Amino acid sequence: MREYLKKLPKEIKSLISIAGKVSQETKMPAYLVGGFVRDLILGVKNFDLDITVGGSGILFAEKFARRLKSELNIHERFGTATLILKNGTKIDIATTRKERYPNCAALPVVTLGSLSEDLLRRDFTINAMALKIGCDSDQQLVDPSGGKDDLSRKQIRVLHDLSFQDDPTRILRAIRFEQRYNFKIEPSTLKLLNEAVSLSLLSKVSAHRLRDDLILMLKEDNPAKQIKRLMSLASLSFISSKLKPDKSTYGLFKAIGREVSRFKKIFPSNRKLDVWLIYFTALMALLGKAEINKITRSLALRKGEEKRIMSYCQMRKKIISQLSAKDLTAARIFSLLKPLSFEAIILLNATSRNKNLKKHITDFLKIYHGVRLHVSGKDLHSLGIIPGPVYQKIFAKVLTAKLNGRVTTYQDELVLIKKINRSERE
Ligand code: CTP
Repeated sequence: MREYLKKLPKEIKSLISIAGKVSQETKMPAYLVGGFVRDLILGVKNFDLDITVGGSGILFAEKFARRLKSELNIHERFGTATLILKNGTKIDIATTRKERYPNCAALPVVTLGSLSEDLLRRDFTINAMALKIGCDSDQQLVDPSGGKDDLSRKQIRVLHDLSFQDDPTRILRAIRFEQRYNFKIEPSTLKLLNEAVSLSLLSKVSAHRLRDDLILMLKEDNPAKQIKRLMSLASLSFISSKLKPDKSTYGLFKAIGREVSRFKKIFPSNRKLDVWLIYFTALMALLGKAEINKITRSLALRKGEEKRIMSYCQMRKKIISQLSAKDLTAARIFSLLKPLSFEAIILLNATSRNKNLKKHITDFLKIYHGVRLHVSGKDLHSLGIIPGPVYQKIFAKVLTAKLNGRVTTYQDELVLIKKINRSERE
């Protein structure tokens, strides 16, 4: 294992080494587990450390957090803790545990267990490996179900026949990992998955768990591939039987991917963008208003997310037709696009092939969006204008003039304000 660990960035190696010291000090064996180990062997970048501890995960986490001087969130009920480092890195720490599923799709009853019980409760062999944290010679891989072999065979395999019954969200996870790594779901696992689908087990899962897993699929690098495979194996009927993406939806997904990359080039400074929401909105746009309402409510999306989806679906046709006109003033383009979220603008751009619309959107993102006035409220005040709604009205007029190139400098803006103010009073 040493050769895998050697390739990690310095900071991650140092975190693992500190965890090793805490393990020695507390005499509690600690292991890196799950996705981190899988990706370490695959050589895929993944710095989300997942640590499981034989003893008390919380005690371990407290000592670890003290050494790292990091923030610590303890989830007493689950015996788990999360460390949040200053650079945003998250480290999840748990106590080795076993799980019993009282009935199909219900949340498991969790009790303390050994490391192998902890690994054998997991979804797939490739996620059921642990790497002991300790001094160099001590770093051994614990792999009770042949996860490393499955990684080299490029296959997704469950650990036991009841896996999908215990947790039907594993249907979505199997597809997600298969498509992410270009693996194949192993034949007997595929048979179990098909059986779980034909028993409609996904419809037994709580809506918020389905939502979380669907969002994870839409956050993957190639959501079109994910949803296509989901449609061929399970369909989206667990969300709505009316939801049937087709070839043109997948084409749109590809176009969204291209527009998102372009957007990120225009705004490289990490402007927050919920990319998954663009894909989700594209799916919702296939449905009518009542159905969208039903879905967003049952999935308990956040208010802001629901609003962005609804407003896009409702104004799409009208705004596409308005933005497709050739001769629009900058101020008109600004007033059409400013109220929209960036997610909606990207989706509009991906949806339409109209050249005018595309140019207007590019101009908005590259130029108009960044236009700022030189004047401020202070200037209006010193001109003797009494604060009130009139301020917004004046700013809007000056901005329109500025966008349309009628004013440029601070002086121009002041002259225009005086003129507007005079005519307001007349
Ligand atoms: N796990 C599981 N069953 C689930 C969810 C998670 O067995 N329904 C286990 C797997 O061992 C997984 C680990 O918990 O590796 C951590 O879960 P999560 O963070 O969701 O997955 P990762 O494997 O880290 O996947 P990703 O790379 O997408 O973050």
